[in-house]
Amino acid sequence: MEYLLTVQYNHTINQILITGGAGFVGSSIAINLKKKYPHYSIWCLDNLKRRGSELNIPRLTNQGIKFIHGDIRNREDFYPCETGLTTIIDASAEPSVFAGLDNQPEYLINTNLIGTINCLYLAAKLKADFIFISTSRIYPINAIEQIEFAEGDNRFLLSEQQKLKGISTKGIAEDFPIEGFRSLYGATKLSSEFFIQEFNKFYNIRTIINRCGVLTGPWQMGKVDQGVIVLWVAHHFWKKDLSYYGFGGKGKQVRDVLHVNDLCELIDFQLHNMDTLNGRLFNVGGGEKISVSLKELTAICQKVTGNKVNIASVDEDRPADIRMYITDNSNVITATGWKPTTEIEAIVLDIYHWIRDNENLLKPILIK
Ligand SMILES: NC(=O)c1ccc[n+]([C@@H]2O[C@H](COP(=O)([O-])OP(=O)(O)OC[C@H]3O[C@@H](n4cnc5c(N)ncnc54)[C@H](O)[C@@H]3O)[C@@H](O)[C@H]2O)c1
Repeated sequence: MEYLLTVQYNHTINQILITGGAGFVGSSIAINLKKKYPHYSIWCLDNLKRRGSELNIPRLTNQGIKFIHGDIRNREDFYPCETGLTTIIDASAEPSVFAGLDNQPEYLINTNLIGTINCLYLAAKLKADFIFISTSRIYPINAIEQIEFAEGDNRFLLSEQQKLKGISTKGIAEDFPIEGFRSLYGATKLSSEFFIQEFNKFYNIRTIINRCGVLTGPWQMGKVDQGVIVLWVAHHFWKKDLSYYGFGGKGKQVRDVLHVNDLCELIDFQLHNMDTLNGRLFNVGGGEKISVSLKELTAICQKVTGNKVNIASVDEDRPADIRMYITDNSNVITATGWKPTTEIEAIVLDIYHWIRDNENLLKPILIK
């Protein structure tokens, strides 16, 4: 890949902690880095809260990655890997946008906010670099609802004329308004971002924040409230019914989608260019070219799996759901030269092959 910046390999990087390291994103980053840099010592810490994350432990240990069964809510759980740590990548979370909407936000807040602050204490103590996987869901729902759109046959489309700043046909940029409610999940991630910026400024640690849209790929344990692309492919694979929820019940809601391998490329670059990228915050996603509506996704899943399933139409919107989100990647591309490369159909195909090759292992997790 051609990058705009010269890669400045920091030879002091040699010991990396990835929290949520048995999760989808964390394990993907860990394995990707270990394959490229076998001499790095990589530790994955995870409390295995996410169903299916236990399946990643042998994948990690087979590569020589060390696994800690620990919880980021407990600072002493970091002890086994503290000495010599040079970088922390925080990819642990309760990642569902519906989390905490049931009047029980404690786990969400303690993991996503307090847990991240615990990681920051550690980074400050060790002067370790810190990379955070944040979310597009920090942008408020009421502002997203004000985006001008048109209704096409298969998807909602961004209009050329927009009233708000930070939104264009390219998608949502970092200067999109942030006032308003956004879901408790989004609030925990935005609050974490604020603390990261404070620790960067006042405790002098090098940090990067990535606000990611929908991420997907093999080893994502997709479920109704998180990991929709895997859920859709799995339901087609095992011929199980699905539903289009909300926004007229026609499946026209749109998301951009980033293959986790593309994210891993970016994290690799960031890890090795902390001097130049220190303090930056990026929107990161598949962008307009790699976006899909549920209706379009259904057609791709039918083509790839050869199966057709019943899809019910449910008119009412789900709380905290949004009509569309597309990432404007302009800033991250300008700063790094990175670009997402895996197209939607290739993403679906990759997930399909993974499910087909691990059918018995995955069925109890991906299908209720
Ligand atoms: N998947 C996406 O579409 C997406 C999009 C934007 C941002 N993100 C962010 O990426 C990160 C990774 O998400 P993911 O998709 O891999 O989800 P995931 O659920 O697969 O991974 C998160 C991991 O964190 C672990 N975990 C939860 N609570 C913990 C705790 N208290 N202590 C230690 N480990 C704990 C879980 O067991 C799980 O393995 C999260 O921060 C999420 O907010 C994900």
